[in-house]
Amino acid sequence: MDSGIGGFSVVRQVQQLMPGEDIIYFGDGAHIPYGNHPRQRIIDMARYMFGFMEQRRVKALMIACNTISCLVDACEDAVSCPVFNAVQAGADAASRLEVEKVGVISTVFTHNSRCYPTKIQQNSPGRLVVLSCGCPDLARLVEHNLGDPVGMAEVEDNLRLELEDMVGEGIECLVLGCTHYPLVEDRIRKLYPRLELIDPAKQMALELEEYLRKENLSAEQEKTGALKIYTTGDVQEYALRARQVGLKNISGVEYYPPLKI
Ligand code: DGL
Repeated sequence: MDSGIGGFSVVRQVQQLMPGEDIIYFGDGAHIPYGNHPRQRIIDMARYMFGFMEQRRVKALMIACNTISCLVDACEDAVSCPVFNAVQAGADAASRLEVEKVGVISTVFTHNSRCYPTKIQQNSPGRLVVLSCGCPDLARLVEHNLGDPVGMAEVEDNLRLELEDMVGEGIECLVLGCTHYPLVEDRIRKLYPRLELIDPAKQMALELEEYLRKENLSAEQEKTGALKIYTTGDVQEYALRARQVGLKNISGVEYYPPLKI
């Protein structure tokens, strides 16, 4: 689940690593960007999505959205299955690197919560300096501009604006702390080729695979998993973005009514 199409970056990794798994995706397009909402509203909207997943009796839930991941403690009682979250995965991946200075870009909410620096420091006390930057507009720009050359030029301008200071401070790696950002990873690489990039989605997929294997819950090897997408936003746009991101075996893209706020 995610606030929008950003979670497609997580689906991409799951499909690559576990092609047999069926996936249900929920993107709350009616309420994006989450990162600019107040805390309690994010919890309410997230719990609505958790409830949707619980009704479908999923065997594991991936909180692709970093913003919701910061509030996982206030939401996870709404499902009975194990929950994997992006911030924990991103922090785990960052703490393992042999670097001294880590940068994190995220939504404003994630940045203000200090969730990433706290979790990275918990993993490796005192070893790493963590710089964080909250981007008010980047997720929305990516959500609506993928594949459009003019819009992508705007995305690049925004990336330059947001990253300039941190890169100037000498960060050696950058955690893409919002699911939308890995969708424009190629642009970030082009602008800052020497910067090591961390996509929490890769770590999330590895953690999910390990859990399913240990619990004997993995799909059969020969099976091809289907991907069903639900959105409270624009069905046509989601179908287009899913194709652009290269997602496979889409069994349908369906509208679902949003939480009224
Ligand atoms: N993609 C979401 C995240 O990972 C948030 C984007 C937004 O809705 O602000 O934080």
